[in-house]
Amino acid sequence: MRIANDQVAVITGGASGIGYGLAEALADRGVRLVISDIREEGLDKAKASLTAAGAEVTAVVADVSDEASVRALADRTIAAYGRVDLVCNNAGVVSPPAPLWEQEAWIWELMIGVKVLGVVHGVQAFAPLLIEQGTGHFLNTASSGGLAPLPDLTPYTTTMHAVVGLTETLDQELKRVAPALGATVLCPGLVDTPLGQNSAALGAIELQAGAAVSMQNAAARFGGRLSPREVAESAIAAIEADRVHVAPGGDVLERAQARVTALLADIAEG
Ligand SMILES: NC(=O)c1ccc[n+]([C@@H]2O[C@H](COP(=O)([O-])OP(=O)(O)OC[C@H]3O[C@@H](n4cnc5c(N)ncnc54)[C@H](O)[C@@H]3O)[C@@H](O)[C@H]2O)c1
Repeated sequence: MRIANDQVAVITGGASGIGYGLAEALADRGVRLVISDIREEGLDKAKASLTAAGAEVTAVVADVSDEASVRALADRTIAAYGRVDLVCNNAGVVSPPAPLWEQEAWIWELMIGVKVLGVVHGVQAFAPLLIEQGTGHFLNTASSGGLAPLPDLTPYTTTMHAVVGLTETLDQELKRVAPALGATVLCPGLVDTPLGQNSAALGAIELQAGAAVSMQNAAARFGGRLSPREVAESAIAAIEADRVHVAPGGDVLERAQARVTALLADIAEG
């Protein structure tokens, strides 16, 4: 789908990081925005700075893990603009670092609620609107952790793998209805965002002393950190090319290649 002036985009997790980068990049192309987030204060600040830069913005507080909240977001979008062209199911938190056998039930429930059901709720609330128009696109944010293992983050990687599979299947289901519908999954490597701080504020993790240093170490290990705006530009290019996957980031291609090569070799063994 070509991104064009006067289209309408909804972005969950739009108060910060990648969601905010998407908002800026889309606003620069004349797209009208609905930014949504569970953190009202962050959302107000994001709306103020986007509006100051000339964007047309509606801000809606919503919890993506709550189906009724996401349906209300869809209603507010239609009330504000009467249509929707791009739905970015992007909200997320990260899980605490520990091997799978030490991950507690509550974090699995939180990650599945936000990352898997959050995307499902977004698709269920907005797909009927896109189908009625016959055009439109979903951008679902997963992670490079959805394409290859990230040890000590199983609740994160499991839900990200789910978002990859969900989006690949969704794209085929949408194309079956109308060729101008589609879905793309965004699987970036490390991005320079306050994901750790926001996840701590939302009770998903405890911020450890030295978190900034361990982030720098992770950046060195994973081939550097992208800016949210770089990720947003890659995502928009993929949507415009109607690609199902987009995975910007230093080492993502190598890690995905290693996984797929090992997978195919195992399958070939019969
Ligand atoms: N930062 C990275 O290195 C990185 C890499 C790959 C993928 N991602 C994914 O990108 C997405 C965006 O993360 P980010 O890095 O921009 O972090 P971020 O914290 O800057 O943005 C995430 C936003 O989602 C919001 N949010 C969390 N739970 C919510 C809920 N239940 N309902 C509505 N909003 C909620 C947060 O308040 C926050 O504003 C996440 O899904 C994350 O897992 C991040």
